[in-house]
Amino acid sequence: MAHQLPRIIAHRGSPKLAPENTLASFRRAALDGAKWVEFDASLTADSRVVVFHDDDLDRTSDGSGPLAQTPFDVIASLDAGAWFGRQFAGELIPTLEEAIELFAELGLGFNMELKVDPGREVELATVALPIAASCWGDHAPLPLVSSFSRQALAAAKEILPAWPRAFLFDYLPDDWRDIAQTLGVVSLNGNQRHLDAQQVEAMKSAGYGVLAYTVNERQRAEALFEWGVDGVFTDIPGEMLKAFPEF
Ligand code: G3P
Ligand code: MG
Repeated sequence: MAHQLPRIIAHRGSPKLAPENTLASFRRAALDGAKWVEFDASLTADSRVVVFHDDDLDRTSDGSGPLAQTPFDVIASLDAGAWFGRQFAGELIPTLEEAIELFAELGLGFNMELKVDPGREVELATVALPIAASCWGDHAPLPLVSSFSRQALAAAKEILPAWPRAFLFDYLPDDWRDIAQTLGVVSLNGNQRHLDAQQVEAMKSAGYGVLAYTVNERQRAEALFEWGVDGVFTDIPGEMLKAFPEF
């Protein structure tokens, strides 16, 4: 079960300094020293996989309405940078291929979070994982595939068993042991707001890694690491890496 997990993971890139989940954001994270990035993989209406967090296009692009009901050719025409700052105007919503090719080029490890449109959990895993595997090839390190969706993780286990998986949760469910075992995850990734020391101890004792999201305060990261948390997702990778240089 022991799996080397990253200590500092750039959450959606470097979203305080560049528009989240864009190539600019991932480049910025790499520039600031990040070795790992997290991003959200979502399905368009016509089953392309793009890098985008929200259900709706409105907050982080100049589009509107649900991403999952919008065809790729519309999504590809949207501006995903101007909302953040004029210097990022023209930044696009990346395809999964573009993101992973950039990670390979920059030597960035990645955590692909499968962000499901309800009812299309298996479809997302079925489309995304072969693309990710073919773009990543045999680069190291092995990526981490995560999701709040058990169905998506079960599909990931079938489709690409060699890639490690993580179960995401907001509050740790009572049946986490069953879930973790059934899905064959290496890590349990929880909302840092609701984690406590006893839970971390129990998950670690059971042999799982523990990652916490989203940690933007040094003191909170210190406390989590003291409890045994292996790594944190952060919106400020540059600052966190200065505070906690990686091995
Ligand atoms: O994977 C950690 C974190 O990204 C999960 O929540 O909403 O930021 O995708 P969210
Ligand atoms: Mg995410």
